[in-house]
Amino acid sequence: MSHATRRDACSPPHRVTIHRSRDENRKVKDVMHTVRIRDVGKDITVGEGQSILDAALENGIDYPCGCEIGACGACKSLLISGAVDFLPYTKSVLPQAERDGGLILACCAVPRSDCEVTFAAEAVHQEALPPVREFIAHVAGIEDATHDIKIVRLVAPELADFTFLAGQFATLTFDGIGGREYSMASLAGAPLLEFHIRRVPGGRVSGHVHDRLRVGDAVTVRGPLGTAYHRADHQGPLIALAGGSGLAPIKAIVERALAVHPDQRIDVYFGARDEADIYLEDHFAALARTHTNLRYVPVLSEPGDASPRRTGFLADAVAADFTALDGAKAYLAGPPIMVETCEAVLERLGVGPGDRHADAFVTRPPRDEKRPVQTQRAGGG
Ligand SMILES: Cc1cc2nc3c(=O)[nH]c(=O)nc-3n(C[C@H](O)[C@H](O)[C@H](O)COP(=O)(O)OP(=O)(O)OC[C@H]3O[C@@H](n4cnc5c(N)ncnc54)[C@H](O)[C@@H]3O)c2cc1C
Ligand code: FES
Repeated sequence: MSHATRRDACSPPHRVTIHRSRDENRKVKDVMHTVRIRDVGKDITVGEGQSILDAALENGIDYPCGCEIGACGACKSLLISGAVDFLPYTKSVLPQAERDGGLILACCAVPRSDCEVTFAAEAVHQEALPPVREFIAHVAGIEDATHDIKIVRLVAPELADFTFLAGQFATLTFDGIGGREYSMASLAGAPLLEFHIRRVPGGRVSGHVHDRLRVGDAVTVRGPLGTAYHRADHQGPLIALAGGSGLAPIKAIVERALAVHPDQRIDVYFGARDEADIYLEDHFAALARTHTNLRYVPVLSEPGDASPRRTGFLADAVAADFTALDGAKAYLAGPPIMVETCEAVLERLGVGPGDRHADAFVTRPPRDEKRPVQTQRAGGG
């Protein structure tokens, strides 16, 4: 496990400057808590509303981290004692069973009392994932996949030995603008690193990519991150569900699955709004021609005219097509609402949390926005 060694290795802290009276200061002091980080034998003070990870990095502690928004699992820790409030996080990153066992995500855990935590791999049962690295790459190509998705390809000498698993993501920092998570659509070992970046209305980073990014521009890549990667030992049926640019990690997972188990049954569902939002159809059609075990189903949620394609929501299409999916593994990527509704259907079809691997493309809330919290005590609950 690779750790962030500098505060700027992760994104800027979610902090706001607050001016308080002396009385208010006294109250705030009451809500500050001491957290002991067992792995480094250090006690740190965590401010009101601050996450354990944020305070640890501020104190120069080499705490494992990645996305800082509860999406990658790199900061998973065991709460040895005390109680924390939880900020929202991607559920599949910390399944309820792990949470009941006392595990937390340090980036989403705000102390409610003095606490002790450890991030030791044996305490959090973390699998050995490829090490996190940081390097500068350059834009080798930019292509329009649809009216609002660009395919961006990066080149760097480091790609020769940049190890990652199909479905993982990296934090990309363009031109000094705060980093954002984007999933690799290519496989490790390919000469170029491929990303699919959808324009989010009003989005800082995706807006920069769509309006200003040019071939030759430098991009800082930090990764790989994420736990929704392809499990190569699974040979049973695979169902892959993508919404919009969620097709990026799904493309990588499907290609990897076909490389290791060419006869595995694979069902790919791609949710798009309308005809103009469909991309890579030729790619999946070609894969389906050479692999009769692969089925590719695009589904339009907002078809403009009478469309000959499947229409409706992705979750409804899956619910209509299967009566049971026991023994299958599911990979999901795309908008949080799509991931959430599809996970509920998969659960009903018999695909348990341990067989669902999801990346919900959550966007970072504005810095001064208070995120809702839930409470957790050591030992779960
Ligand atoms: C694990 C992971 C993988 C991802 N992979 C991809 C990928 O492969 N391709 C891709 O296109 N995207 C991906 N994303 C999303 C991506 O990281 C960015 O969030 C996205 O591009 C938006 O960034 P931005 O800077 O353009 O928008 P921002 O400037 O961050 O935000 C855009 C707008 O949305 C608002 N907003 C942000 N968060 C919220 C919220 N929670 N509630 C309400 N409003 C909000 C902001 O106020 C702003 O107006 C991924 C996200 C994650 C977590
Ligand atoms: S850094 Fe905490 S989940 Fe990614």
